[in-house]
Amino acid sequence: MFTMSLGDDGAQLRPLEPWQAEEFLAHMDRARALVDPWIPFAAAATDLDSARALLQRYADKQAADTGRIYGIWLDGTLVGGVLFRIFDAATGSCEIGCWLEPAGQGRGLVHRASRKLIDWAFDVRGMHRVEWIASSANTRSVGAAARLGMTREGILREAFPHHGVRHDEEIWAVLAEEWRAAR
Ligand SMILES: CC(C)(COP(=O)(O)OP(=O)(O)OC[C@H]1O[C@@H](n2cnc3c(N)ncnc32)[C@H](O)[C@@H]1OP(=O)(O)O)[C@@H](O)C(=O)NCCC(=O)NCCS
Repeated sequence: MFTMSLGDDGAQLRPLEPWQAEEFLAHMDRARALVDPWIPFAAAATDLDSARALLQRYADKQAADTGRIYGIWLDGTLVGGVLFRIFDAATGSCEIGCWLEPAGQGRGLVHRASRKLIDWAFDVRGMHRVEWIASSANTRSVGAAARLGMTREGILREAFPHHGVRHDEEIWAVLAEEWRAAR
């Protein structure tokens, strides 16, 4: 029902809700090969029931103000999304996550969508800190955090076991005053 333009190339940010499970699953099937090596997100949506359940978890998080999920549409096709995996209004700290299918990569879509989420977190919700956590080996995700002007704060060595490998996790973050100064 609500859409936000991400630029003049037809990219839009919209809420992603359980009723869109079918469209989300078809998109996940296109995104799986890109997403699976890095995060267990697409693997949590392998059929209609699990796709709907994933979106319902985020609908529940939104109702509790502990998380949110938004899709990115390009020329009417769902090609990726951004989310608040964690949103803790009490401490003023939240974490953004993201994914794309191959057709969405390399266009700055996650960059532009993440900027909207960060603006909202700081300007509307008065949050203090936005985090981004990625495997050190996930150079595209690390590049996205750097492109947003975040600071690489540290590495949790071998903290994230995924597909039989223990990945180093990089913690990136931007603080409200840094975001405003850069803007
Ligand atoms: C991580 C992921 C979202 C990054 O995608 P991405 O397209 O590189 O990210 P961005 O939105 O920041 O776009 C940056 C790219 O678009 C280009 N670009 C084009 N227009 C742009 C614009 N207006 N603004 C910024 N970048 C732009 C940049 O040059 C860059 O491309 P390059 O690296 O080839 O030079 C994607 O690789 C992905 O989905 N990976 C699998 C899931 C995943 O790892 N999720 C994150 C888990 S921590």
